[in-house]
Amino acid sequence: MAHLSVTLCGLMMKNPTMLASGVLDETGRSMLEVAKAGAGALVTKSVGKEPRQGHGNPTIVELQCGLINAMGLPNPGMEIYAAEVKEAKKGGVPVIGSVFGGTEDEIAELAGLMSKAGADAVELNLSCPHAKGYGAELGSTPELVESICRKANKQVRIPLLAKLTPNTSSISSLAVAAEKGGADAVVAINTLKAMAISPEARMPILANKYGGLSGPAIKSIGVRCVYEIFESVKIPIVGVGGISSGRDALEYVMAGATAVQIGTAVWTEGLDVFNKTSREIMQFMEENGFESVKDMVGVAHPGRN
Ligand code: DHB
Repeated sequence: MAHLSVTLCGLMMKNPTMLASGVLDETGRSMLEVAKAGAGALVTKSVGKEPRQGHGNPTIVELQCGLINAMGLPNPGMEIYAAEVKEAKKGGVPVIGSVFGGTEDEIAELAGLMSKAGADAVELNLSCPHAKGYGAELGSTPELVESICRKANKQVRIPLLAKLTPNTSSISSLAVAAEKGGADAVVAINTLKAMAISPEARMPILANKYGGLSGPAIKSIGVRCVYEIFESVKIPIVGVGGISSGRDALEYVMAGATAVQIGTAVWTEGLDVFNKTSREIMQFMEENGFESVKDMVGVAHPGRN
């Protein structure tokens, strides 16, 4: 009998879909709704040490092919957010705590605090494309990625996932660095640095000028990144970027992803996107003789199909 369950770094997921960081994950209650809607795991909002208000408005531009956002990493700070993690755990699916920080020590400390709060794994946001001093400013250098992962890994016994930036000439070098530093998995991709201009106003639309592009526009870039990473590392890959259907998810899986995350499509399609994606993957498996998602991981690579 074909089944949808996957194991990611020892975490059991009833299906390969997870909520991506940044969407409906600011509170435990909203994450419970996503769990109820069928997500196989939840990733929290990226949380930092201190509360952050984020950028002023506008923070989002809606395009035909996706979204550009520059929220500015708003969050209540780890001390307060711990209660949200505990609440989200009631959903009965793994909860992966996303953290960001401005220094190696801060990121490592937050990873430890996320673990203490009860998260089943930690995702390091090494890839926000526009926040000064955070994210991709640290995560674009392989040496830094390696040392951040090494430090964070010392603070936790739970799996450590490194979310990588595609705003680089070689995302596989970043993945290799994360693996060397002890990351248990990599997540690819975060948003691409982008901007939109209002001709009438003759100025950038986002208050922050630059933001991160997500949604259908970036799916093919994400698939390419996962494909490249799969050829460079042994640790599992979580695919993310523009997924809103079973076929999208299957592209990522066949490129090499063990599981996938869905973010922008939660906004554009609603919460049913998790069950719909799972259903479509299952239908494909039944029609094509695959028993498990694992059997499809990386099969688009030569010699594996
Ligand atoms: C923000 C953070 C991200 O990691 C991203 O990809 C886009 C936006 C933010 O909070 O602004």
